[in-house]
Amino acid sequence: MKVLVFGDGPFASLVWYCLKHDSRHEVAAFTVEGDFLSKDRHNDLPVHAFEDIEGNFDPSKTAIAVAIGPHDNNRVRARLLAQVKARGFQTISYLASRAIAWPDFKLEENTFIFDGAVIQPFATIGRNCIIRSAVHVSHHVRVEDRCFVAAGACVGGSTSIGAGSFIGLNATIHDNIEIAPNCVIAAGSVLTRSTEPGGVYAGVPARKLRQS
Ligand SMILES: CC(C)(COP(=O)(O)OP(=O)(O)OC[C@H]1O[C@@H](n2cnc3c(N)ncnc32)[C@H](O)[C@@H]1OP(=O)(O)O)[C@@H](O)C(=O)NCCC(=O)NCCS
Repeated sequence: MKVLVFGDGPFASLVWYCLKHDSRHEVAAFTVEGDFLSKDRHNDLPVHAFEDIEGNFDPSKTAIAVAIGPHDNNRVRARLLAQVKARGFQTISYLASRAIAWPDFKLEENTFIFDGAVIQPFATIGRNCIIRSAVHVSHHVRVEDRCFVAAGACVGGSTSIGAGSFIGLNATIHDNIEIAPNCVIAAGSVLTRSTEPGGVYAGVPARKLRQS
């Protein structure tokens, strides 16, 4: 099965590089929405407009990795993943060989877990999530769909992270709290309490700055 990477920015390059050097997948090309098509090639591979992609790739024999960052509470990535599936393409996911996960961990579609991440026993990670390098996801943590956890974040045991939330670089999230859907937790924050939906929180201890 051929694999395409959706995106042509730095994060798409990172996903391409990790798939190339640390997976069985062979990336054949990049794809972007036609309005964003600005170059023919990226990382020495062709870039195709997604709208015309069936002309080059048979959906039944092609998987697409949607490698888009956390923009708009991760909704851009969710919208594109929905289109990829509606057009009949397959999806993939990625667990770095240098990440640590335990037996029974289930890797969901379009979820990418990078080098040095630790996913402890009884923790779950939903669909379409990005777990960046050196993130610690403690036991019994639940990360719901469409989340982005930036590098170095530490999530304490039994905490839950609501769908669409973004956890910034090196944030510390206490155990046994609930982050509501679509929250943003700023880089370096220490979050000690549960949050309200769509809130942006920052500081040590973290306080609500505004609605996202
Ligand atoms: C949370 C965040 C999105 C807020 O960005 P923003 O809306 O542009 O906010 P501003 O930079 O205007 O800051 C607003 C206030 O919050 C404070 N603040 C922002 N980030 C903060 C942080 N990480 N810790 C403590 N306070 C912070 C600012 O000092 C400012 O306070 P003031 O009004 O008293 O001056 C941003 O700070 C952040 O953490 N981004 C994530 C970075 C990251 O992890 N990147 C990884 C990329 S994958």
